[in-house]
Amino acid sequence: DDFEGEGVWRYNAALPFEEGVTLPEGHTPLHRVPRLEDDVGVSALRIKHEGMNPTGSFKDRGMTVGVRVAQELGVGRLACASTGNTSAALAAYGARADLETLVLLPAGKVAAGKVAQASLHGARILEVDGNFDQCLDIVQDLASRGEAYLLNSLNPFRLEGQKTIGLEFMEQFFADYETYPDRIVLPVGNAGNTAALYKCFRELRKAGAIEEGDVPKITGVQAEGSAPMVEAVQEGNDEVRRWDEVETIATAIRIGNPVNAPKALPGIRETGGTAVAVSDEEITSAQRDLAEEGVGVEPASAASVAGLRKLREQGVVDSDENVVCLTTGHLLKDPDAAAKAGVDPEPVPNDTDAVLDHLAGN
Ligand code: F0G
Repeated sequence: DDFEGEGVWRYNAALPFEEGVTLPEGHTPLHRVPRLEDDVGVSALRIKHEGMNPTGSFKDRGMTVGVRVAQELGVGRLACASTGNTSAALAAYGARADLETLVLLPAGKVAAGKVAQASLHGARILEVDGNFDQCLDIVQDLASRGEAYLLNSLNPFRLEGQKTIGLEFMEQFFADYETYPDRIVLPVGNAGNTAALYKCFRELRKAGAIEEGDVPKITGVQAEGSAPMVEAVQEGNDEVRRWDEVETIATAIRIGNPVNAPKALPGIRETGGTAVAVSDEEITSAQRDLAEEGVGVEPASAASVAGLRKLREQGVVDSDENVVCLTTGHLLKDPDAAAKAGVDPEPVPNDTDAVLDHLAGN
């Protein structure tokens, strides 16, 4: 075929369609962060910054495929529950496809940038007096009653698109190092992305594109106040216990019932990976570390770097490892968290001499 896709669609051989509803998405940078690499103490550290997608998160890779499927099916209404990024992506791709969009958000727990996106792209926004998991329960009910087409990561076509994160960073890393990364570290919420990466690596193996030993260890990071997957991995459980009370500054991953756990847990185990929980302070500190190298991410994304640092300190990650950290969302998604983590503006008089005095510390 003569279709030359870009971004996600460059990998259409691994996708259910040749083309999708596109803005376009994918083709994100694999940043070098030499100071952080040194400080964390690994052989190589690269940051796959998914915040550089059209709506500022990795969710776009899933939506370009998922909304295409919805078009194909001729559904009347698209819907999702969201901690924010999925709703922003669905609103944009739904608008692109000229389809009605409904998003259910946990009231008061979604970062400002994300609500603004859903709002401007014209989604109908329902603020639920409950947490994300409860929003997802409702939207699943709506879908099963035929009221909406579900575009959460329970929708397998979303994960097909998100597989391309793995295809891209494996290619990018190999181009620079002539080897594949030993480990991929990512934030975990509903565990959809973890499941997507696992599927990606399985398919690469099956196609003979990589060897068994080339598969990166899938390493998940959650916030301490919201860590049911970490609990299951560390206790060796096959089932994940639903946490009813969850809290973290990383609102994107404020999730107590990771619905994709059955697809994600085997990925962590079989690749020799692990899972670790980090505190809000560790997350904020990692957000600053990345920002100091010019890479602006939202708190949930910084969890990956915080988790790597912790595992390195614990000796779980070796100093000779090559690591990719996935940063899933852009700094501007959560301007309040960024402003809190960063330096405060200094009020000065409207006068050059006074400004110079101020700078001189007088
Ligand atoms: N990082 C960010 C920035 C996210 O928005 C999410 C999920 C994750 C990580 C976790 O990914 O769920 O595949 O394990 N956000 C969803 C949302 C839940 O509604 O935007 P996951």
